[in-house]
Amino acid sequence: MSKKEPKLKFNAAWELAPAPEDTKHISIKKQYDLFINGEFVKPNSKKYFATYNPATEEKIAEVADADERDVDKAVKAARVAFNSWSKLSGAERGKYIYRIARLMQERAREFAVIETMDGGKPIRESRDIDVPLAANHFFYYAGWADKLEYAFPNRNPKPLGVAGQIIPWNFPLLMAAWKIAPALAAGNTVVLKPAETTPLTALKLAELIRDSGLPKGVVNIITGAGKTGAAIVNHPDINKIAFTGSTDVGKLIQKSIAGSNKKLTLELGGKAANIIFEDAPLDQAVEGIINGIFFNQGHVCCAGSRLFIQESVADVVIRKLKDRMETLRVGDPMDKNTDVGAINSKEQLMKISEYIKIGKNEGAEMYQSSCSIPKKGYFCKPTLFLNTSQSHRIVQEEIFGPVLAIQTFRTIEEVIEKANNIPYGLSAGVWTDKGSKIFNLTTKLRAGVVWANTYNKFDPTSPFGGYKESGFGREGGLHGLAAYLEL
Ligand code: NAI
Ligand code: MG
Repeated sequence: MSKKEPKLKFNAAWELAPAPEDTKHISIKKQYDLFINGEFVKPNSKKYFATYNPATEEKIAEVADADERDVDKAVKAARVAFNSWSKLSGAERGKYIYRIARLMQERAREFAVIETMDGGKPIRESRDIDVPLAANHFFYYAGWADKLEYAFPNRNPKPLGVAGQIIPWNFPLLMAAWKIAPALAAGNTVVLKPAETTPLTALKLAELIRDSGLPKGVVNIITGAGKTGAAIVNHPDINKIAFTGSTDVGKLIQKSIAGSNKKLTLELGGKAANIIFEDAPLDQAVEGIINGIFFNQGHVCCAGSRLFIQESVADVVIRKLKDRMETLRVGDPMDKNTDVGAINSKEQLMKISEYIKIGKNEGAEMYQSSCSIPKKGYFCKPTLFLNTSQSHRIVQEEIFGPVLAIQTFRTIEEVIEKANNIPYGLSAGVWTDKGSKIFNLTTKLRAGVVWANTYNKFDPTSPFGGYKESGFGREGGLHGLAAYLEL
């Protein structure tokens, strides 16, 4: 490369791009409209709302607030597009989806920086996990688009129609990919709504989709809060609702579509047990505990938020855990050395702080790492509670923050009983040297995903989803594809 050549911008490969914390080449508009029928259009109400950077409390941009008429417009565009999109050959659909995946890789740096600015997660996570995994979902499902007959032999797979997709703020781009990629591969069209605190990467994705040449109306992305979400759910011409978010809203959605022909998948809260046996490789287990609860500030539905340690090793594990917590860097999410970034919103920080108070009032013993946190922005120190019991609210309820509730156990029967005695059933972790123990537990734990000697590992090929109040239906893998097909 000659010296005179201009500095490479964000569409260069990672290695050639400037350091992630350099935000000079990131293009964020002051105001975003709704992406309907392949173009950005003004909202009917002409109203906009602000999205903030939770690490600085500064306003980043304004986004359109879609009302029922905008939702109707988006659904109509998706319906018209469905007629031709569903008739394209799978191979043709696959080409479009591959193109989205490749463009996402090319613009990876821009996506990562915007994700971190808008939502507060450490840049290392958006760069190394969220964005590459989102692209991988598009690659993975693109590969199935022309193989539906092989994937579901003799079952005459047909797309459902228009899918309404509502996603949360903890993995904004990744959740958009989880939802859009299988829907398109199966031949459906989409109306997607990102969460109100993190709309910017979905809107970047809308720009990417426009640039990719995907036929108009196949993907529509509209912004707004709960009211907009409800308008999608209640629209009569939607065939399927896919929702990820709180259990409360999930229950509301289930009620409001009861009696309609709409199909539904719900991906709701969790309160996972992470179980450490005395024969586990303890140093690795401590890394798994840290990753399980402090990854993405604990804003993870499958977070390992309940820790069970076998009594004989409890003292040593807790000592190692406290030592490791001291090394966590809490602060500027844009710094590539940061481990724990900003809490996503003021509301979420208030909720977490309330639970920390509740934990103390319930008589549990709190420990926080001695780090300092920035004066501005929404931050929470990594926190753990010792001496908790099954009846404590901090053990039963989803906190969705960097707060770990610790219990000890003696026997395998006791820990299975405690792990399952909870309204949720999304995920669990098991740490032991014995394969037989792992098999025993995977059959007895009522959790959709069980990790053995690892935690928070995600892959497009493996299905993800829960039992009980964690929802129903699976995303990822062939199961995730089946959820968008009439079989
Ligand atoms: P939420 O469930 O209200 O928000 C998730 C999405 O649903 C957002 O896009 C929101 O605009 C939309 N929404 C809200 N009300 C709706 C309605 N009536 N109909 C259709 N869509 C609607 O979650 P929120 O309030 O942001 O967070 C509250 C708590 O929920 C968190 O503290 C956490 O415990 C839990 N949560 C769990 C998530 C998970 O992945 N399991 C994700 C987000 C939140
Ligand atoms: Mg924001």
